[in-house]
Amino acid sequence: MEERLQKIIARAGVASRRKAEALILAGEVRVNGRVVAELGSKADPARDQIRVSGRLIVADAPRSYLLLHKPAGYVTTTHDPEGRPTVLDLIHGMKERVYPVGRLDWDTSGLLLLTNDGELTHRLTHPSSQVPRTYQAKVEGIPDPAALQKLARGVPLEGKPTLPAKVRLLRKGPRHAWIEITLTEGRHRQVRRMAEAVGHPVLKLHRVALGPLALGSLLPGRFRFLHEKEIKRLWAMGRPAKRQPARRSARS
Ligand code: URA
Repeated sequence: MEERLQKIIARAGVASRRKAEALILAGEVRVNGRVVAELGSKADPARDQIRVSGRLIVADAPRSYLLLHKPAGYVTTTHDPEGRPTVLDLIHGMKERVYPVGRLDWDTSGLLLLTNDGELTHRLTHPSSQVPRTYQAKVEGIPDPAALQKLARGVPLEGKPTLPAKVRLLRKGPRHAWIEITLTEGRHRQVRRMAEAVGHPVLKLHRVALGPLALGSLLPGRFRFLHEKEIKRLWAMGRPAKRQPARRSARS
């Protein structure tokens, strides 16, 4: 059955759907030896030979889903130009290469999902999916109810308010407090910037949940495979993202 190329590539675990689109536009994809650089192009994974950057892809390759307890001090990209350790340095004994789903800052710890399922990655990271992400943050000072309410209602970042969030005070010390915040969007350094905006900069940040996944008692630096039930729940959460109409290349 014919399907859009970017979908086939994502499912083969080579790249996320967005990255697959970029590879197509860059002329890195060949179908039966011919470069296909148009986004609307289709192929039949059972019949056609599809190569990405010269590598033959195996449609419907085995998929792996891992939950890692990321320690602070690791980057979430697969390569760091500054040579810092990456989360992939913590993944051992895997035949398939897996990729982080979304990002955590270098100094953020906690739950990170990794997979080679490009289609699920696309769904979970698309802005329309609104998958809840729960963080626990140690903040400077003790936020009063007004500050907590501001965080919950939305804080303007680059002129656009953040979506409503669930916020609660977990505990307080003499000069700092721990708060828990659940967001349904993933803007750049969102928790840190929100907390700063209400006058309580983040000292430590830790993610404890992503959609149906909970970090639980997994030790820092360790990972586990997801259970079948968790994978099904994740698929149910990541709503099919509305696709942009296919952009045409100059040649068509
Ligand atoms: N918000 C942040 O500020 N940093 C993260 O790593 C995740 C969410």
